[in-house]
Amino acid sequence: MCGIVGYAGFRNVSDFLLEGLHRLEYRGYDSAGIAVLSETGIDVRKRAGRVTELGMLIESQPIPGSVGIGHTRWATHGEPTDVNSHPHFGGSGEVAVVHNGVIENYDSLRKQLQQLGYVFRSQTDTEVAAHLLAHHLNEQIRLEGLGGSGEEGLDTDLCLKAVEATLARLKGTYGLAILFRECPGTLIAARCGSPLVIGIGENESFLASDASPLVGYTKEVVYLSDNEIAVLSQSALRIEHRHTGKVRPSIQTLSQVNSDIELNGFPHYMLKEIYEQPQTVENALRGRLDSEEATAVMGGLNLSAKELRRIDRIVLTACGTSWHAGLVGEYLLEEFARMPTEVEYASELRYRNPPMSDRTLVFAITQSGETADTLAAMRECKRKGHPTLAICNVVGSSIAREADGGIYLHAGPEIGVASTKAFTSQVTVLTLLALYFARMRHMSFPTGQRIIKQLRNMPEMIQKTLECHDKVREVADRYYHFNNYLYLGRLYNFPVALEGALKLKEISYIHAEGYPAAEMKHGPIALVDEQTPSVFIIPRGAIYSKVISNMEEIRARRGPVIAIACEGDLDVARIADEVIYVPEVEEYLQPLVCAIPLQLLSYHIALLRGCNVDRPRNLAKSVTVE
Ligand code: M6R
Repeated sequence: MCGIVGYAGFRNVSDFLLEGLHRLEYRGYDSAGIAVLSETGIDVRKRAGRVTELGMLIESQPIPGSVGIGHTRWATHGEPTDVNSHPHFGGSGEVAVVHNGVIENYDSLRKQLQQLGYVFRSQTDTEVAAHLLAHHLNEQIRLEGLGGSGEEGLDTDLCLKAVEATLARLKGTYGLAILFRECPGTLIAARCGSPLVIGIGENESFLASDASPLVGYTKEVVYLSDNEIAVLSQSALRIEHRHTGKVRPSIQTLSQVNSDIELNGFPHYMLKEIYEQPQTVENALRGRLDSEEATAVMGGLNLSAKELRRIDRIVLTACGTSWHAGLVGEYLLEEFARMPTEVEYASELRYRNPPMSDRTLVFAITQSGETADTLAAMRECKRKGHPTLAICNVVGSSIAREADGGIYLHAGPEIGVASTKAFTSQVTVLTLLALYFARMRHMSFPTGQRIIKQLRNMPEMIQKTLECHDKVREVADRYYHFNNYLYLGRLYNFPVALEGALKLKEISYIHAEGYPAAEMKHGPIALVDEQTPSVFIIPRGAIYSKVISNMEEIRARRGPVIAIACEGDLDVARIADEVIYVPEVEEYLQPLVCAIPLQLLSYHIALLRGCNVDRPRNLAKSVTVE
């Protein structure tokens, strides 16, 4: 969703802001803009469209200066137009603001401000914050008896008071970056529910909504917490909590490097990330397999063995792809650890009130760690006293920080909007978790050892799976023109079917539905005809022959069949129109290999249909609004 970048230092700020906005493009956006503070005031360049177009505008109308803010907007209030793009001015230009999040009481505030004579140019909720800031700044100036700012400009404390007074009136979520025309060399940031990270450099300070714009500039970062306000300048960083006063910044080390956020020769991030999976699964396993004890090592759960043995139910909560990984987790935890497990859509759980005893352990599963619904569901569970842990990729994200503990994926930045490597890493971590719980309860030593051996082998199996790429490309060539797809699988491969269908619809805009293969005859089979291909995930396993029967039912109705099957499976080849082979692995590990041809299939179909695979329409990488 929207992205923020800011800078106070000595560089030509437009260059830094533009590069930062390019790095934030993956989050999804429809317009972009920057504001630069200089001796002559605040200058803004903004427009609907891509960051590259904003770059052309800045090239033709440059704005010199070394303090500024920038934004990529994903429209919520008002269409993606030049006027609705951020930054927004407040008052008569004394303030410029960029904003992530949603100001829920913007309508009533807008009316109040209009009555005071403020003129609104945009339809955004953000402009309310801009005018409020100007209003409270002028109030402060009046109260302090200042006739106007002198040569030195305004005192930072005065601006801070205006920010505090404004925030007190806002309801909703915000990450704000603010420039005051009369406060040279300074930018102010504030957070409530929308992430902001500050980078500390030598004689420069950076700001961004995630760490990617900071990579290569600094390794020292501070994650702002809710209700904190930061004052950034070339030489200093000051953080205040709105209710408790001065905060000592907790400086952390940024581990991301430039190559993590570059394409490294791949045409798209999605393809790069698909190909990273042998490595990312290995990263998820690294240091977490204990052959001597035949169990997993789960260092960050922050719960003692005694506390964990008390747990009698697990709730996994997530959205989208992470929810699909959760479904695989449910099957694993129930089969291995005999642990009753439920998977809840975070958007539902946050408002539902299901009975949960004090022996229920909650896991929030999230790549970004910023998904608004997942964060809210997690907070709700914490409020009710449940130990709440995170399975998360982004270090320092809101969910990672607010959870009582958890497990990092260590998959590196996932930039393609379609989640790929995060899914396989989540499934890997959930497999480790199931092993860990199982070995604490009843699983035998030899079984634990067998699972460890199979897990160690997975990076190699995933590498081998990638050899299906050429075949997938051929299938995509023959099938990309169809407009409806069914994805069918059973047991561990049912969530894979859901995930395959989601991948196809989100990047190629083709209607696709995932179903448990046997459920198909209770309704969806009515959709089957020559124009509706079914993608069957049918590696060998306990109910393989039952899925073969489901496949026959589709063929009998002339539905084209694309099958994902185990190497050398000729029975499937006799029925299906197309077979994409994957290596044979244990049933519980099949999602890790079967997901990969489905990721590649959606990638190639989307390309053939001329879609932007990394930045599909209407979507955002992390969904930070409700
Ligand atoms: O960052 P999260 O894992 O919390 O994101 C959840 C979903 O928004 C995400 O998985 C989404 O469904 C992806 N675009 C799927 O590819």
